[in-house]
Amino acid sequence: MNNNMTAAEIRKAFLDFFKSKGHQIVPSAPLLVKNDPTLLFINSGMAPFKDFFLGIGKPSSPRIADTQKCLRVSGKHNDLEEVGVDTYHHTLFEMLGNWSFGDPTDPTAGYFKTEAIAWSWELLTEVLKLDKDRLYVTIFEGNEAENIPKDTEAYNEWKKVIAEDRILLGNKKDNFWEMGEMGPCGPCTEIHVDCRSDEERNTIDGKTLVNNDHPQVIEIWNNVFIQFNRKKDGSLEILPAKHVDTGMGFERLVRVIQGKSSNYDTDVFSGTIAATEKLVNKKYDGSDRKEAIAFRVLADHIRAVAFTIADGQLPSNTGAGYVIRRILRRAVRYYFTYLDRKEPLLHLLATILAKQFEEIFPELQQQIDFVSRVILEEENSFLKTLENGLKRLDNIIKDSEKTIEGKAAFELLDTYGFPIDLTNLIASEKGYAVDEAGFEEELKKQKERSRAATELNVDDWITLQDGKSVFVGYDTLETKSKVLKYRKIKAKGKEQFQVVLDKTPFYAESGGQVGDIGQISINNISFEITDTKKENDLIVHFTNEIPENLTGEVWAQVDKITRKKTTIHHSATHLLHAALQQVLGKHVAQKGSLNNDEYLRFDFSHFAKMTDEEIEKVEAIVNEKIRQNIPVVIKEMPKEEAVKLGAMALFGEKYGDVVRVVVMDEKYSIELCG
Ligand code: ALA
Repeated sequence: MNNNMTAAEIRKAFLDFFKSKGHQIVPSAPLLVKNDPTLLFINSGMAPFKDFFLGIGKPSSPRIADTQKCLRVSGKHNDLEEVGVDTYHHTLFEMLGNWSFGDPTDPTAGYFKTEAIAWSWELLTEVLKLDKDRLYVTIFEGNEAENIPKDTEAYNEWKKVIAEDRILLGNKKDNFWEMGEMGPCGPCTEIHVDCRSDEERNTIDGKTLVNNDHPQVIEIWNNVFIQFNRKKDGSLEILPAKHVDTGMGFERLVRVIQGKSSNYDTDVFSGTIAATEKLVNKKYDGSDRKEAIAFRVLADHIRAVAFTIADGQLPSNTGAGYVIRRILRRAVRYYFTYLDRKEPLLHLLATILAKQFEEIFPELQQQIDFVSRVILEEENSFLKTLENGLKRLDNIIKDSEKTIEGKAAFELLDTYGFPIDLTNLIASEKGYAVDEAGFEEELKKQKERSRAATELNVDDWITLQDGKSVFVGYDTLETKSKVLKYRKIKAKGKEQFQVVLDKTPFYAESGGQVGDIGQISINNISFEITDTKKENDLIVHFTNEIPENLTGEVWAQVDKITRKKTTIHHSATHLLHAALQQVLGKHVAQKGSLNNDEYLRFDFSHFAKMTDEEIEKVEAIVNEKIRQNIPVVIKEMPKEEAVKLGAMALFGEKYGDVVRVVVMDEKYSIELCG
């Protein structure tokens, strides 16, 4: 079956065919699933339409077709460890699909088994010209326990176009499709293709290899007849209308049509593989060797990583972000270990993908700078970890006799973030074993230690005077004062003292502004204040040493230069916040900030990467406002009044009834600021 269609032509042939059968062609939905606790990523073509099968909402047409980006690495359809080892499983893949959404009030709108089966045969054999004698189909044999009969309707439809000995019965695992633990489901009929050589086909009957994990006898298309909803308690509920949901693995289809024995030999992947060959200066030989697996892992994983980031998910430590991080790190480990590449590489492949898919999935090309940068940062940080861990592992191996102690394996994890499976892998390659039980033991001990370490050891307060601590630091940076109380603390093994004054100019850390540093002197003995924090209503000064006698007159003095620089940065944060809202829009919200004497950091939410032009505009506005030397006016007023003035309040912040409002030009920036 070697016709000369490119992947793009094959995709187009599918979509054109269903367009000619009255289907509306829609773009792929983003990979990320919002508001559905049962699913992290779109895992099949039907997932974006799930509600329509359940009778919630109405589709834009009763007949729809598309190619949908799907990701299967977690949940019911979990393939990650298989990917790259074989030649036909993927993390991200395209699923070509056609749908009929039944409407109980309009039986003519959709279609069911007759049309679905006839069209799939027509497309495969007449349009895409697959050999009929290489095709097999399966239908659902029925299931007594669930009280679902054999799908004789599908059988009878198939009988019209294919010899009966090519229609095979399949069990619930293979021929009853379910979206996940819950959701729409129904019996399905699958089309399998035998890509073996004629010689092999003459020796072993292809029929015996269907659904048997044979790399050359593979399923390409699944037609599901959705009739049920699986409920949380496991029971099946009959749906009011019948629907068709089909899914054809695009990469597999291309491989079959292009007559290749591996998906990775098609033009879906060849561009990335060729680029990788150049970058690592090695040849991909399509074998089962680790090096070839590494090529496949990269070609596959970069797609999942790049498209998911383009669809709005950054790598992180939880949920969907963690899945992406895991995929990315698996790719890094493979090129680091098996392709001898010690520098970032994936971010370069993203650019090639973006071009390749520009027509069908333009979202990647549109954000390619951002996506590449995110990938590069992830690669860099994980590579650093790997490198340090490897050096240490080499030394450990030198000092070990055939078994790496649990303690050493734990150190690699704890200090270098080196995963235990990687330690195992490298150790075994050098003929060493790892004491895994010992490792687990160390892990447990560490958990106990970290619990102990976060425990703060605090002595009782020694009270010299009762009273409240009053902050006077908005108006003055030095003042006479008295010690109210003090105590010794021990945190992270270090001994320190905390001192509370009745009056203090020291600003306690809050709203992103760091706590003041400075000096306190009592009876002419002075000591350094290293930090100031709030504890409920108390303003607590931190110091490494205190004089023996704390009674007597206190002189408290903030480090003026540090405070001045910090204040400037805090004011600039307000200027920046207002400028960002002007340039990017009112949706920009502060997510965090840091103002110290050296710099300011401002975290904010925005749906896209800022363009160079936007950044320049923001800079120009802030610089202009600085040059205008606008007075910073601070007012106290009831919260309602401040909000009426248009003051920006932050989400997730608590404000009192009377608020402090910082104004820098009433028309420019009014912000609530504690
Ligand atoms: N939803 C069906 C599948 O994913 C078509 O196989």
